[in-house]
Amino acid sequence: MSLFKKKSIASLMADAGDSEKGLKRSLSAGSLVALGIGAIIGAGLFVRTAAAAAQNAGPSVTLGFIVAAIGCALAGLCYAELSSSIPISGSAYTYTYATMGELLAWVIGWDLVLEYAVGAATVGIAWSEYLNNLLVNVLHTGPIPYEWCHSPFEHSIPDAAGVVQHGIINLPALGIVALLTLLLIKGTQESAFVNGLIVITKVAIVILIIVLGWGFINPANHDPYIPPAATYTDHQGIDHSYGGIMGILGAAGVVFFAFIGFDAVSTAAQETKNPKKAMPIGILGSLAICTILYILFAHVLTGLAPVDFFRTTGKEASVVVAIQQFMPGYEWLGKLVTVAILAGFSSVILVMLLGQSRVFYSMSKDGLLPAVFSAVHPKFKTPYKANLIILSIVGLFAAFVPGDIVGDMTSIGTLFAFILVCAAVIILRKTDPDLPRQFKTPLVPIVPILGIIVCAAMIFGLGWTNWLRLFGWLAVGFLIYFGYSKKNSKLNNPK
Ligand code: ALA
Repeated sequence: MSLFKKKSIASLMADAGDSEKGLKRSLSAGSLVALGIGAIIGAGLFVRTAAAAAQNAGPSVTLGFIVAAIGCALAGLCYAELSSSIPISGSAYTYTYATMGELLAWVIGWDLVLEYAVGAATVGIAWSEYLNNLLVNVLHTGPIPYEWCHSPFEHSIPDAAGVVQHGIINLPALGIVALLTLLLIKGTQESAFVNGLIVITKVAIVILIIVLGWGFINPANHDPYIPPAATYTDHQGIDHSYGGIMGILGAAGVVFFAFIGFDAVSTAAQETKNPKKAMPIGILGSLAICTILYILFAHVLTGLAPVDFFRTTGKEASVVVAIQQFMPGYEWLGKLVTVAILAGFSSVILVMLLGQSRVFYSMSKDGLLPAVFSAVHPKFKTPYKANLIILSIVGLFAAFVPGDIVGDMTSIGTLFAFILVCAAVIILRKTDPDLPRQFKTPLVPIVPILGIIVCAAMIFGLGWTNWLRLFGWLAVGFLIYFGYSKKNSKLNNPK
C-alpha cells in the first residue's frame, strides 16, 4: 500500500471510456465558453468587489483584479494543458492523481469542496442580498427580516436609534441552492441551455453598467488611488490590512473569487464533444473576456461612490445600491440589474454544484468516497444522490456562515488547488514526456512557477485567519482519508 501511488494515464483514459456509458457527451466548445462565463461572472464581481474596496484596497481594487487575472491566466494555461491531455471528469483532482499520487489527490479533491461547494454557498448568500433588494426596490414590499436572511454569526450596523439586529439563518440562500440542485438532477443539457440565456444577459448588464456609469465617475473617489497602509476594523470587529501593497494583495485574494469557475469547465470533460480542442478554448476564452470586463467594471464602481459607502449603506447588494444613489436618472438600470443578477447568480451556483458533483463522482469511482457518490439516475443520467448530499453540505454553509468568510475560504481553497495544478504540469512533463498534448503550456517551467508564486502571494494577502481555516479544513480531510479512503481506494486494494 502506498500513499503516493499514482494512477496511470492509460487507466484514467480507460475509466473515461467506461463511464462514457454513464454520462452523456453533449457539450461543444461554444457551450463550454458559455459554461465558463456562466460560472465566472457572479458574486465575485457584484459583491466581493465592493467588499475588497471597503476592507482592503479602496480604488486600487482594480490593481487587485490585475494581480488575480495574472494568477488565473498562468494557472489557466496549466489547466488547459492538463485538461487537453487528460480530458476526463474530475479536474485538478484527476490531474493530481496521475502526477503526485493518491494522498495529494485526496487533498486536492477535498480542497475542491471549498472551491465548488463553499463557493456555491457564497453565491447563494449574495443571491439572498439581491433578493432583498428586489423585494424592497423593485416589488416595493418590505425586506425579509434581518434574522431570517443572515447567519447567526452576523449582526447589523446599528440603525439611527442604535438598534442592532442579529441573524439566525439565511433562508433565501438555502432555498436557491435547493431549487438549483433539483434542476441539476434533471439533466446537464437542459441546464446548459438555461445557462446560455443567462450568460448573454449577464454580459450585457456588465457592459451597460460600464458604459452608462463611466460618465458618473467622480475623480475625488479615485484619490488617492492606492490608499496609505493602515488597519481597518469592520463592524463585526474583524481587522483587515487596508491600503498599500498588502491591501492590493489582500484585494487580489478576495476578488480572485470573481475568476473562479473557468476551471470548472475542465470538470465537464467527460460530457464534452472533442474535449482536446474544446477545453483550451473554453478555459482561456472565458477567462480573457471576463478579465477585461472586470477591470473596467471595478474602475467604474469605485469611481461612483466613496469607500465609506461600501463599508456602511452600500455593504449589501453593493452595485445596485451604488447605482441608485450615485447615478441619478438611472433607477431603471438598478432594477434591471437586480433581476439580471438574481438570474446570473443562479447560473454560477448551478455550475459550481455541477463541478462539485463531478469531482465527487470521480473520487467515488476511485473508491476514495462511497459508491453512493457515483450512482447515476437511470432516466436523467445524472449523479443524483451525490447532488442531494452536496445540497446538504452547501446548505449548511449557505444558511449558517457569513458571506465574507465563505467567500475567502473559497478563494484560499481554489488558490491552493491552482498551485497544485501548476506543479502537476511540471511533473507530468518529466514523468510522461510523450503523452499526446493537444495544447501545451508555453515556457514550462517558467509559466507554472510564476503561477505558483502569484497564487501563493494572494494566499499570503488573505491573512492568517484564512490560513488557519484552510489548515483546519485539510485536517478534517486527513481524518476522512485515513479513516475511510485509504482502506477503500481501488488503486491501493486491487481485487
Ligand atoms: N466567479 C464566481 C462568482 O464570482 C464564483 O460568483
